[in-house]
Order: sequence, then structure tokens, then C-alpha cells
Amino acid sequence: MSESTNIDSLLHEERQFPPSADFVTNAVGKPDLYTRASKDRLGFWADQARELLHWHTPFTQTLDWSGAPVARWFGDGALNVSYNCLDRHVEAGLGDRVALHFEGEPGDQKSITYAELTEAVKKAANVMASRGLRQGDRVIIYMPLIPEAVIAMLAVARLGAIHSVVFGGFSSESLRARIDDAQATMVVTADGGHRRGAVFPLKDAVDHAIADGASSVENVFVVKRGGNDVEWVAGRDLWWHEEMAGVSDEHTAEAFESENPLFILYTSGTTGKPKGILHTSGGYLTQAAFTHKNVFDLHPETDVYWCTADIGWITGHSYVVYGPLANGATQVIYEGTPDTPHPGRWWEIIEKYRVSIFYTAPTAIRTFMKLGREIPQKFDLSSLRLLGSVGEPINPEAWIWYREVIGSGITPIVDTWWQTETGAIMISALPGVTATKPGSAQVPLPGISIDVVDDAGVHVGPEAGGLLVVTEPWPSMLRGIWGDEERFKETYWSTFPNTYFAGDGAHLDADNDVWLLGRVDDVMNVSGHRLSTMEIESALVAHPMSAEAAVVGASDDTTGQAIVAFVILKSRFVGTETDAALEGQLRTWVGEQIGAIAKPRKVFIVAELPKTRSGKIMRRLLRDIAEGREVGDTTTLTDTTVIRTINTSVND
Ligand code: WT7
Repeated sequence: MSESTNIDSLLHEERQFPPSADFVTNAVGKPDLYTRASKDRLGFWADQARELLHWHTPFTQTLDWSGAPVARWFGDGALNVSYNCLDRHVEAGLGDRVALHFEGEPGDQKSITYAELTEAVKKAANVMASRGLRQGDRVIIYMPLIPEAVIAMLAVARLGAIHSVVFGGFSSESLRARIDDAQATMVVTADGGHRRGAVFPLKDAVDHAIADGASSVENVFVVKRGGNDVEWVAGRDLWWHEEMAGVSDEHTAEAFESENPLFILYTSGTTGKPKGILHTSGGYLTQAAFTHKNVFDLHPETDVYWCTADIGWITGHSYVVYGPLANGATQVIYEGTPDTPHPGRWWEIIEKYRVSIFYTAPTAIRTFMKLGREIPQKFDLSSLRLLGSVGEPINPEAWIWYREVIGSGITPIVDTWWQTETGAIMISALPGVTATKPGSAQVPLPGISIDVVDDAGVHVGPEAGGLLVVTEPWPSMLRGIWGDEERFKETYWSTFPNTYFAGDGAHLDADNDVWLLGRVDDVMNVSGHRLSTMEIESALVAHPMSAEAAVVGASDDTTGQAIVAFVILKSRFVGTETDAALEGQLRTWVGEQIGAIAKPRKVFIVAELPKTRSGKIMRRLLRDIAEGREVGDTTTLTDTTVIRTINTSVND
């Protein structure tokens, strides 16, 4: 069970918020969804797949679970994901509807209709195909959040190839590991992107990542965005705008089987090596579209939707690209940070585009809470009618603030639980049905079967805590870990028979609503981003100065968790520099090895680490120290003086 979250502190808010009569009347998702799904779960998903998507070849089989834990959904059907997100809307007469309102950080803007987006994706597909991209090939996308990133993803999908988007904040080392693991033949990047008023280089990192000549990468497409100088390898590197200028805008989308891989997205696990989570087409798109429509109560003719996630994360895949575009939504995408050039930038964007549905992470909400309500109150947020939260538990205080200050005290809030692996939302209120409860993600969506169980796999019942599991296959479930079937089975399917183990602790309240309590493994959640303690420890021990390292997630009021590292130096480095100087070097190093988001908040240089008699690092004690608590039970510790030594160095 997560030791950093205390259920009692979460439960003090007792109010519930039923939807208004008006909201109920106009709601997209009605109570009958639950009835239909509970009567015939597979029939329900088959209906959704048929209603929400266009199938070039209709399917007759809904689920084939004979190869468990690898599912086949709609296995004999065929579709084109890109066609479903683009052409069919244009063919239905919606070509003039805006798909993307792009807002650049420097203030440049561009609204792109479905017709224009379709044309751009057709051209991009022709460009990629002319450079040899074929079904099943892998393409790395390493971009700022600009329209070309979305276009590149949809072009890869259109050709039945597989994209792997790498968040632009990851270092060239992380990029290299992902390119190599996926054996990608193409990279789409930009010269640079805008962030906090400066240009950050991206092409540079790509050059480093593929410098050694043994790289699988044959072509690098470079979008001009930052305007910064870049190195150029003739023959390998290609300017996106030049390639796009000379190519036909006609491209007929070919159908691929439902289980054709769509993307690989790397995420942190409990070991040092990130996992390439594999998602396929028909099931993924069905659940992304279904959840986007019903959880966000989407009225595509009138709503303006904005999800603040970057496309480098699963939220950006399912709720910036695939869900909204499959549903023909109009949405905002914003390149920059919330505080540039002023702390009201997000609220200004909501006012400007009359955003009606807004989806973000609790960390952001808590940061704005700290800055004060005066900032959002300067803007007209009256267009908002629904708010969403994702990535980590939202504490009731933040939930109430979000509703009061951003949602004018009236908008429903949906707290959505899901994971990179689940592909789409699994647990959430339906805003026109559920009376919402601050702090709880509440109920599994129609067609989703979850449970909270004890260590033996037995249902815990109301008012008890345990482990969150998914007991039946779902359409957007991961189909594996790229190149590592064993790890896939071991990580998710070996804890309980035939049951997906999510890695989260959860509590059921008296109404059987689910409260998420955080990870039960060595995965940290920092600002809604997933990081592995092992991955950061591996980076730290790879530094020439360090002998041993331990990393823990300490609870933090704003970011949920903060990374705190304890490092033992090799003896010849002890005392060579001040601790502050050493800490600085180690933090920079982790930034280079993984990315800025993985830099520890604090690095303590220590003489020893507390270990059990069997040699395991006692992270619980380190967490106590990192959170400034009285150190707990040390009876299994080999040498209790270690704690005194660490405490002394920490308090120095
Ligand atoms: C982990 C998955 C799903 C998109 C963003 C993160 C935590 C996610 C919630 C929520 C409490 C949440 C879980 C989960 N998490 N949403 N609403 N309430 N915790 O995706 O990087 O794959 O991380 O994020 O711990 O296991 P991810």
C-alpha cells in the first residue's frame, strides 16, 4: 500500500455534486449505457465500435481472448485510423469545421479545418511513403506541440506504420534508447520549439542520438519552428516544408486489420529500462472515441475542447489526437508552458477560444491555487461547462478550488483514472449521470470491469483498501511490451491469474466508489509523469563519482511526489567538492541521461544507506527522512547508526 497517501486526509470532504437538471437533459452519456453494458459487455463494445468508427471491412468477431493475455478485438475487421480521424468527416460535409486551434507560445496562431488537416496528412503520408515507409515500420516523433506533430502521427497511422512519440523534454540519451529499442527507420523532429520564452533545440538531440553510424535511422524530417541553426547531414536530413511542397495531396487510405499496431509509447516501469507499450488500431480507437465522447460530454458542433497534455504522453495520444479527431471535435493545442509570458496564459486561451471542455492534471491546478484566484478571475471563463482531471489523485481541496474558481461553481468535474497501458479512461464519473465526489475517481465506465482485491486476489468489500485490478479484457488494452513478451506477462499478469494488475493501491468507500491511493511499486508520479526509482538510480550510479544510489518519491504538496536521491560517493571523491557542488553535477547528469523532468529535487550525499539484513535498501526509512518525518521502525535494519549518520548529513 502506498505509504505516502493517507486515506483519512482524503476523506474529509463529504459533499457530493449531482449534475444540474439542464446538464442531465442534454448529456451525451445516459444511464442506459450502464444497463446495456452490464447485460452484454461484448455486444456493448461491438455496438460502440460500429457506431463510432468506419470499418472498411466490418468485423464479425468482437473479442478473441484465446491468446490471453494478448487480446484480439474486432479481429476480422479492417479500418484506417487516419481515415476515421479525417476523411470521413470531410466526406460527411464537415470539412470547414476547425479541427485544431493552434496557439504558439510566442503568440502566433493558426486555425486548421478538417479539410486542411486531411490534405496535410495526405501529403505527409505521400512524403513518408516516397521515402520508403511501409506498414509496420517504426517512426520516432520528437517534436514540440505544433500541428505538424499531429500531422506526422496521423500520416504514420495512415500508412499502417507505427509511431513512437518521444516527449521533447527527454534527453538525447533517452531518445537513443527508444530509437534503438524500436529500431526506427525515420525520425520526425523540429529545429527547435518554444518554451518559457526561449528556443529549445530538438534536432541537436536527434543528431546525438543517431551519431554512431550503427543507428537504424535512415531519414530525419525537420520541421522549421524554432528558427535556430541546425547541423545537416545531406541525404539523411530533409526539411519538412520542402518535402511537403512538391508532393501530391491525393492519397487513398488503405484498410489495415483491426489488430495492426498503431503506436509504441515508452513508459517507466519498475526496472531501469523503459517499456515500449504497444497499442493496436480498432479496439484502441473505439475506446478512445467512446470515452472522449461520453466522459467529456462532447457536443462536437458546439464544444471547444482543450486537453493540456503534450503528445509525448498517452493523454496526448488518446485525448489530443485520436479520441477528439475520431469524434470530429474542435480543439485547442498550445505549444508553451502555462506561465509564459504571464501566469494567466491558460485562462487567456480559454477566454480567447471560448473553451467549453477543459482537461488537465492536479499538479497544474495546485500550482494555480498557490498563485491565487486573482489570476484566473481576471479572465472570462464562463464558456467552460465541464472540467476533467488526470494523472494522479486530485485532493478534495484542489477539486473544490477547480470547480469554484475555474468552473464558476457549477461545472461537473470528471476525475479520470487510467494508464499508458490501459490506452483510454477506465474509471470516471459520467458527468450527466454520476453525482461527483471530490477526491474519488468513482466508478468503472460502462463495459469496464475493475475490482479492488487483497494480496490473495479476494475482493475487499466496501470501506477497505487493496490493489486495483482489471478483471476482463477491454478494447484499448495494451497488446504487449515491444520486443519483450515475458516482461509483459510478468509485469501485469503474474500477480493474479487472468487478471490485469495495475500497480495502484485503491480504497473502496461505503458506496463502492474507488479512491486511488498511488503506486504500490517503485514507480513515482511527479506532476502526473511517471518515473521509475530504478531508472534514476541507474543514471546516478552511471556517474563516475557515485558508488551507490537510492531514490525515493517524497510526497509534495504541488507535484504529488518529488524525487529525492541519496548517493554514496566513491571514496576518492569524498570531500573533493562541497555537497552543493556535487549535488549540482549529479542533478545535471540525470537531466542529461533521462531528461529535465527526472532531475531530483534534492540529492543528499551520504556515507551509508539503510539496508535490511538481506541487503535490500529500506526505502521507507529514506522516505521518512526525505519527508522530514521521525524515522519509523528500524528493527530489520543491519546497522541502526546508519540512520543517525544519514540524518546528520541531511540536516547539515
Ligand atoms: C498512473 C499511470 C493516464 C494518463 C496519465 C498518466 C496514476 C492516473 C489518475 C487518477 C489517481 C491516477 C496512477 C496510474 N493516475 N490517473 N485520476 N487518479 N491516479 O499515465 O504515465 O501511464 O501513469 O498514473 O498511479 O497507475 P501514466
